[in-house]
Amino acid sequence: MPDLNEHTITEAVKKTFDTSTDDRFRQLLQSLVQHLHDFAREVRLTGDEWFTAMDFIERLGKISSPTRQEVVLASDILGLSMLLDTMNESPGGSATASALLGPFYVEGRPSAPNGADISNGVAGTPMFVTGRVVDEHGEPVAKAHVDIWHSDGDGAYDVQLTEQLHGEFAMRALLTTDADGRFWCRSITPRYYPVPTDGPCGEIMRAANRSVMRPQHVHFWFQADGYHPLITQLFLDDDPYIGRDAVFADRASLQADFVRHEPGVAPDGTEVDEPFVALDWTFTLAAERP
Ligand code: BEZ
Ligand code: FE
Repeated sequence: MPDLNEHTITEAVKKTFDTSTDDRFRQLLQSLVQHLHDFAREVRLTGDEWFTAMDFIERLGKISSPTRQEVVLASDILGLSMLLDTMNESPGGSATASALLGPFYVEGRPSAPNGADISNGVAGTPMFVTGRVVDEHGEPVAKAHVDIWHSDGDGAYDVQLTEQLHGEFAMRALLTTDADGRFWCRSITPRYYPVPTDGPCGEIMRAANRSVMRPQHVHFWFQADGYHPLITQLFLDDDPYIGRDAVFADRASLQADFVRHEPGVAPDGTEVDEPFVALDWTFTLAAERP
């Protein structure tokens, strides 16, 4: 091997992947080496700085567990998760834009009939969600599965309220659209909340003096035969943190009016004797392309 210098080492390393029989693997690794080396040359990366970075990566792994996804959070706060989301998960056209699944989706959530109160007794300002699922021509999508989940009025999800809920689900359900593509339920109004800040990702956000908050949102996951699945979120359009979501998911087309109402008749026809919120949205699914 010739004596390598700052510039020739990149080609030498890339060449070691030429023998791979997997074209995609070779492309990914060779490009990664090129960009890593270019990055180090561009910023004149020092040994100490790289040691700090490697220590950071090691600590991302060490703090991670099935319920604490710090590596995923790093991808989220660096905007990589939403970049991949926009590249791979957004069919475009009139289809509703997608947004991150996030760490609070859990398997085994209960099914509920339309109209159910899915708060499971958690106190908060009542929220009435009405939605319609349509195809790209505006035709209703019947029998679509609609997962919905959100936080409480303090920004906590049921899985974080273990003392209060003893492992029971709340503020989440699996609904199904009717023949007109409609679904509806009652719950409580969520609120903005911070992403976890007690790990290495918190250090990064603090060092940058950036917001660690996620604006108030409700998560949805739509699945229907013949359609591209849609994982998305709707955001409170006048939330104090809108436009600076810590994980960059608050796309303009997903900002919604969570309409505040005085006591009175709710969208489901019931009489509500306290102020409540109504959220209504039409979601457009893209047909699955063969
Ligand atoms: C969420 O969608 O709820 C979420 C996404 C990324 C990090 C933390 C929370
Ligand atoms: Fe969330």
